[in-house]
Amino acid sequence: MAEPKQKFTYYLKLLYPFVKKDLGLLFFGLFAMLITSGLRLLHPLILARIIDRSIPDKNMPEMYKYGLFFVAVVLLSGLLSYLQIVLLSRLGIKIITKFKGEVFRHLLKLPIPWFNKQPVGELIARVESDSERVKALFSDLSITIIGNVLFFFGVFAVLFVRNWQITIYIMPLVVVSIVGYSFLIRYLSKFYRQIRERYANVTAKITDFVQGMQVIQALNKQEKVIAEVEAASLSKRILETRTSFIEYGSQSIFMFITNVLFVIVIIKISAPKVIAGAVTIGTLIVFIQYIYQMIWPLMHISENVMQIQRSFVSLKRILELTGLPTEEDEFRGTTMPVFQHEIRFENVWFAYKDEEWVLKDVSFSIPKGKTIALVGASGSGKTTSVSLLCGFYPVQKGKITVDGIPLTELEFRAWRTKIGLILQDIFLFPGSILENVRVYNDNVSIEQVKEAVSIVQLDDFIEALPMGLDSELAERGQNISQGEKQLISFARALAFNSEIIVMDEATASIDPQTEAKIQRTMQKVFAHKTAVVVAHRLTSVLDADEILFFSAGEIVARGSHSELMKSSDDYRKLVELQLLKQEKA
Ligand SMILES: Nc1ncnc2c1ncn2[C@@H]1O[C@H](COP(=O)(O)OP(=O)(O)OP(=O)(O)O)[C@@H](O)[C@H]1O
Ligand SMILES: [Mg+2]
Repeated sequence: MAEPKQKFTYYLKLLYPFVKKDLGLLFFGLFAMLITSGLRLLHPLILARIIDRSIPDKNMPEMYKYGLFFVAVVLLSGLLSYLQIVLLSRLGIKIITKFKGEVFRHLLKLPIPWFNKQPVGELIARVESDSERVKALFSDLSITIIGNVLFFFGVFAVLFVRNWQITIYIMPLVVVSIVGYSFLIRYLSKFYRQIRERYANVTAKITDFVQGMQVIQALNKQEKVIAEVEAASLSKRILETRTSFIEYGSQSIFMFITNVLFVIVIIKISAPKVIAGAVTIGTLIVFIQYIYQMIWPLMHISENVMQIQRSFVSLKRILELTGLPTEEDEFRGTTMPVFQHEIRFENVWFAYKDEEWVLKDVSFSIPKGKTIALVGASGSGKTTSVSLLCGFYPVQKGKITVDGIPLTELEFRAWRTKIGLILQDIFLFPGSILENVRVYNDNVSIEQVKEAVSIVQLDDFIEALPMGLDSELAERGQNISQGEKQLISFARALAFNSEIIVMDEATASIDPQTEAKIQRTMQKVFAHKTAVVVAHRLTSVLDADEILFFSAGEIVARGSHSELMKSSDDYRKLVELQLLKQEKA
């Protein structure tokens, strides 16, 4: 990870706005932690007191008193440690929910070009795993680390007061074990990373294959797919097995060293002193108990520190997403759009990347109330023109104007609400037909939805469904046909009653009945509206006021259907080809 190192306080500053509202929760949690650490220190001290004083004095009442005290302290520390976990976890969960909400809210505002560059599945997986890591910062990490560090200092202080000579002997040993263990963890972390990578590889393969299930089954490639997934998981399994051998083997050795060796050393150093009466048995027990309780968590400190570093990197990565410039940052126009006369493309040049021009010096006009059709070969720039009209991308040269005012000066959201967009890849949300028509816009009444549905002649189809308008659509509308999808997206554009209808016809062919239905709908709707249609079907262009014939990013011919039949050989060929196809069908 080549992340630049940042100061600890830098991350605290990043986190602060999210914790601000819940400072009470944080302080209560930390306070509970402080008390718990204090109580943990107390356990061995009470035992020592009983052993050193009450027993030699044969003072039974005092023994009972301290016995009860011991029980109370154990119970209380159990209760408080439960409380601290609950409080801090709750804080972690709250913060992470806020985080994800904020990230999603920000994603919604990002410009379309950004999504083109981003593998979305990967992005979402990353946000998920990063969020979990940030959550761990509050729940597991802070509790273990802060609690243990506090406890360590407490232990050190008490031991030093009770017997500084033994403490000075023991401490170098403690430090050596911690350093040794941290080397082991760093060595192992290399393997953990490789395991994670191989695991991601297996998951990615399975996701790809599940998404392409139809292709796999159609081509009968199940065996190949299984072999590939198995090979990937085998390589992960081998590494994982090897790592766990090393991990648990070395942990056992360390456990032995710390649990047995420390006791031996403590007894070796203190036994002569106990015999000479310089050290009490109680002190000996305090030492052994403390070392037992302290050493294992301390060994994990370097592991925890690494986890914290990773959490911080995750934190930064998530917050970087929320820092990306939004559409509002990029489109600063404020003029409210008024469309009375015409939209013009004036010498528009556009490239998605560098100087790879997709549109070259394109000029045309869309007069109010007219229907303009865009036709031409695949990749000639039709969808691109439509995207520019909606303001999804800025043009590089030339301009698009609405009644003479450049698109860049218009308030982009107000402009988009004027446009009813029917995309080439129709997107339907998992949800009811009703929700898909009005797309979470409660201003669109059920009556408007019903009217729109009846204009596109989907009412019979919908009434035949058991739940009517409330019938659920599957993900991406997989449970309805291509034509029905188009009609639903038509109804969507109608229900919003947009001034301008922009339709990018689906390239996939649909049956003649549905085509006729769409055709009738288009005639009805387009009669009163301004319409821009990217047309793949002949029927869609016949009634257009003007047809623009695109070829390799340029308009090579324009005019009505009858004009183009005379003037353009290419257009005539296109029409003949379609007629031929229709005759065959
Ligand atoms: N998001 C994108 N990023 C980069 N290049 C793109 C992008 N979308 C389209 N292109 C490229 O721009 C060119 C024009 O594409 P466009 O989608 O406008 O074609 P089209 O005329 O709509 O074609 P079709 O009839 O197949 O829908 C193509 O060469 C395409 O590869
Ligand atoms: Mg297209």
